[in-house]
Amino acid sequence: MALVTTKSMFEKALKKDYAVGAFNVNNMEIIQGIVEASEAEKAPLILQVSAGARKYAKPAYLVKLVEAAIIDTGLDICLHLDHGEDFEICKKCVDDGFTSVMIDGSKHSFEENIRLTKEVVEYAHSKGVVVEAELGKLAGIEDNVNVDARNATFTVPEEAAEFVAKTGVDSLAVAIGTSHGAYKFKGEPYLDFERLKQINKLIPDTPLVLHGASTVLPEFVAKCNEFGGDIPGAQGVPEEMIRTATKYGVCKVNIDTDLRLAMTAEIRKHFIEHPADFDPRKYLGPARDAIRGMVQHKIKNVLNASNMR
Ligand code: G3H
Ligand code: 13P
Ligand code: ZN
Repeated sequence: MALVTTKSMFEKALKKDYAVGAFNVNNMEIIQGIVEASEAEKAPLILQVSAGARKYAKPAYLVKLVEAAIIDTGLDICLHLDHGEDFEICKKCVDDGFTSVMIDGSKHSFEENIRLTKEVVEYAHSKGVVVEAELGKLAGIEDNVNVDARNATFTVPEEAAEFVAKTGVDSLAVAIGTSHGAYKFKGEPYLDFERLKQINKLIPDTPLVLHGASTVLPEFVAKCNEFGGDIPGAQGVPEEMIRTATKYGVCKVNIDTDLRLAMTAEIRKHFIEHPADFDPRKYLGPARDAIRGMVQHKIKNVLNASNMR
């Protein structure tokens, strides 16, 4: 039981065509819900912390909560920085005990992304920490998407191969049509699997990462809306598409929005059904259970967990 890197998790996932869930954490209940699910399903686990999460909860609390989860459950857990935007935040997280960091240089030129990623890789590797980078831009809903726009934003397979060779990065987030949040597609969901296959063919030993991989399950959107929410027209990546991606090198699947929806739906329901309650444990407890349920659903139905054994 320890904080571990993704190295052996990804080696196994690559070989057996499944993915490890990487879930965003912001507080104790979210961490506990996710960890309970991973323990119940005996599934490998990445807990990831964004810059926003660090600001909200403070880094020391999050690190200590994850350490507490390891003590409590005996699980091996990877603690990962999500979307680190510069060298400094990556260094800080390495120094704070994270076992994996993402340097997100996708907004920079190809050359600058290589330079920055290399700088982070050198520091992180010297401390035994692994690095994820990103190449290409996640398409927003408005970019959805003609061929020219695709070629301008999605990951170019030959560039991916050059990028990995020049940076020595451990895993690579690719842009093939997913995006963050609850509004991923205006019309029919579309992922560029031909592009993903090509990337996987050129760099078969590099674990690929799918950001923006929430499905935005309709029943959770409906539950939010039924109990006073206003989330019209939300749509995510169909579960079948995520399962397909795991066959072409995708070893890490990033999920935040689906956790937010599960938690919010449960709390909204509780407030409507129990208007007299004002003890936070009364609604945060069920919210934690909702997180656990969502993560168990992901492990069983989306990450190809049957291949984990
Ligand atoms: O990549 C985005 C994740 O959902 C984290 O979101 O920056 O609001 O914490 P956040
Ligand atoms: P979702 O918004 O689809 O959950 O994606 C989360 C993510 O990619 C975090 O890095
Ligand atoms: Zn992301």
